[in-house]
Amino acid sequence: MNASTTAQAAAAASAATIAAAASASDATSITEGDTTMRAAVQRRYAGPEEIHLDTVPVPQPGDGEVLVEVHAAGVDRGVWHLATGRPLVIRAIGFGLRRPKQPVQGSDLAGVVSAVGAGVTRFAVGDEVFGTADGSFAQFAIAKEERLALRPEAAGIADAAAMPVSAVTALQAVQDCAKVEAGQRVLILGASGGVGSFAVQIAVAAGAHVTGVASAAKAELVLELGAERVIDYRTTEVTELDESFDVIIDAGSLTSLRRLRRILSPTGTLVMVGGEGGDALVGGSGRTLWAPLVSLFASQRLMGFVSATTTERLERVRDLVDAGSVRAAVSRTYPLERAGDAVTDLAAGIVSGKAAVLVRDAR
Ligand SMILES: NC(=O)c1ccc[n+]([C@@H]2O[C@H](COP(=O)([O-])OP(=O)(O)OC[C@H]3O[C@@H](n4cnc5c(N)ncnc54)[C@H](OP(=O)(O)O)[C@@H]3O)[C@@H](O)[C@H]2O)c1
Repeated sequence: MNASTTAQAAAAASAATIAAAASASDATSITEGDTTMRAAVQRRYAGPEEIHLDTVPVPQPGDGEVLVEVHAAGVDRGVWHLATGRPLVIRAIGFGLRRPKQPVQGSDLAGVVSAVGAGVTRFAVGDEVFGTADGSFAQFAIAKEERLALRPEAAGIADAAAMPVSAVTALQAVQDCAKVEAGQRVLILGASGGVGSFAVQIAVAAGAHVTGVASAAKAELVLELGAERVIDYRTTEVTELDESFDVIIDAGSLTSLRRLRRILSPTGTLVMVGGEGGDALVGGSGRTLWAPLVSLFASQRLMGFVSATTTERLERVRDLVDAGSVRAAVSRTYPLERAGDAVTDLAAGIVSGKAAVLVRDAR
């Protein structure tokens, strides 16, 4: 089968699935023969309050791509960055210089494979998947095959949708970068947030003694996730503590390298995931750029990283979820027409743990 016949087959499969989808009753159903869908879009860089419902073409999968019927979409800080175009560096690295290249917002998703493009070998129509896509705040989204995995059986649809970016980032920080081991003392800044809430659980699953840093209002959640204690960053300057940690994972503050190293053991590891604010051009990544240089002259390991969703990492997350070690702490859900509110609430610090957009009724 050549590429064009495969594309035609994919389009036909997609139309068939869309027809099947039409029989289900939900707020965003579409009817047979429709080539359009509803999506939460934003066509210029602005606040997330500009994200609004619109009708756009149903995308078609190309080579190595999968069309997913989105049932729920996760919300994470990255959506706010892509909606606002801030920090400015993201405009220069391919997301659109003057306006968002992808007007449909959202990245995380959980749903059902609706059609596959040429060369897709891992997934078939009907598979229940989770992963990342370009534009998941929509009834359908295109994902690269290598950014999807079969969904955890132990997770509901909103929980599965809330996992890809945040849980994979936490997995990379805890397992791949810090290589957390049983018995280690681990400090997690931003423990009540998307990445942090997963990082706490993954470190606890490794047998570490976890101290979380979060606001007092969200301390209970962090304890529920397995942290042994929680420090409120609003009342305690954590870098003034008279103790040290084997591993520090910073997923929320922009505390300087110098201050964090003060409470890191002499051979400890500091992993900088990110924090909001900072420089207009590069945001909070300034200190991360210095880390490799400082590491050359220090006995401590200091590092930042850019997360990447892969099937292998999603499968590791799935195994932890299905083993009962990790769950998504989804505290708020929103219908598709309120996707912008979800992003606004997340940026305002209102969300505890994770938020998700329900595109179709959960099943
Ligand atoms: N490196 C990467 O590839 C990568 C991937 C994903 C995310 N990120 C970045 O990582 C950061 C966290 O992402 P997220 O999705 O987890 O965000 P989030 O859900 O908004 O969580 C942010 C967390 O930071 C906490 N926090 C805020 N100010 C703090 C401070 N001064 N000290 C300690 N904690 C503080 C918040 O606590 P309260 O809510 O309790 O106040 C919350 O727990 C963001 O900047 C994001 O852009 C980077």
